[in-house]
Amino acid sequence: RRKIIIDTDPGQDDAIAILLALASPDALELLGITCVAGNVPLPLTAENARKVCELAGKVDVPVYAGCEAPMARKLVTAEHVHGKTGLDGADLPPPTMPLQDTHAVDFLIDTLRRAPAGSVTLCPLGPLTNIGTAFARAPDIVDRVQQIVLMGGAYFEVGNITPAAEFNIYVDPEAADRVMTSGVDIVVSPLDVTHKALTTRPRIEAFRALGTRIGEAVAGWTDFFERFDMEKYGQDGAPLHDPTVIAYLLQPELFTGRRINVEIETQSDLTRGMTVADWWRVTDRPANALFLGDIDATSFYSLLTERLARL
Ligand code: BDR
Ligand code: CA
Repeated sequence: RRKIIIDTDPGQDDAIAILLALASPDALELLGITCVAGNVPLPLTAENARKVCELAGKVDVPVYAGCEAPMARKLVTAEHVHGKTGLDGADLPPPTMPLQDTHAVDFLIDTLRRAPAGSVTLCPLGPLTNIGTAFARAPDIVDRVQQIVLMGGAYFEVGNITPAAEFNIYVDPEAADRVMTSGVDIVVSPLDVTHKALTTRPRIEAFRALGTRIGEAVAGWTDFFERFDMEKYGQDGAPLHDPTVIAYLLQPELFTGRRINVEIETQSDLTRGMTVADWWRVTDRPANALFLGDIDATSFYSLLTERLARL
């Protein structure tokens, strides 16, 4: 079993990623969920993470609140995509399980120091503020991370919040830069992958057909998500971003990618947060990440639906 920490800003797609992890205790040991400001402000992401755990009946998962603003910038949120609550599309009751007292950054630092080196994988699904702050405050933990598998960035598909940048990296480029230059083994699932994992009608109906509260919620969320993206891109459904991270941990063979150099633009206002990915290896800058480029979307949705049915 692989030990993981999910760092997240739920968000409908974050919520589905959390459910996929909760449905996979055979393969993944979820040590905790650390929340960050992103899609919506921190109080909502910390509440949403707990709502999702409760929906899955997993009230023992420790949930921590982390940074409420990026390392060096003002917070930018995405209610235009996710709705006012961040989880529009399914009505979940307010959570009763507690929020941990410890700050998410302290939890990350303590856990990485205590666990055997190389035994904990971080799964960031939002802006990288918590991880970047932990690395800045406790540089000794960097070498102890087993791997970081994150959703963020783009190459061919370029931007979804500006023409140049993907939302998670755009919101906190300084944190992303710190992570990408950390030397940790990193896997990136960018928009290039997630835009190939679209929520088509039959895929949404397969969630609904589970006939469970979870199936209903996931169908409601993907319906909501899809309405926004259909207007925007006019395509067959919306990209389902964050669950690709958990799917990669469960079935890496569903993905292909290249080990390349990826750097983050932090200086320019025009291209802030751009992931400058040397896909064609036109520089001799050393590779610092496995940048995924393709996904077997049919198998990804089968995996997701089959796992959600277990909850
Ligand atoms: C990313 O931004 C958020 O809106 C989603 O939850 C995902 O993590 C996609 O750009
Ligand atoms: Ca997210």
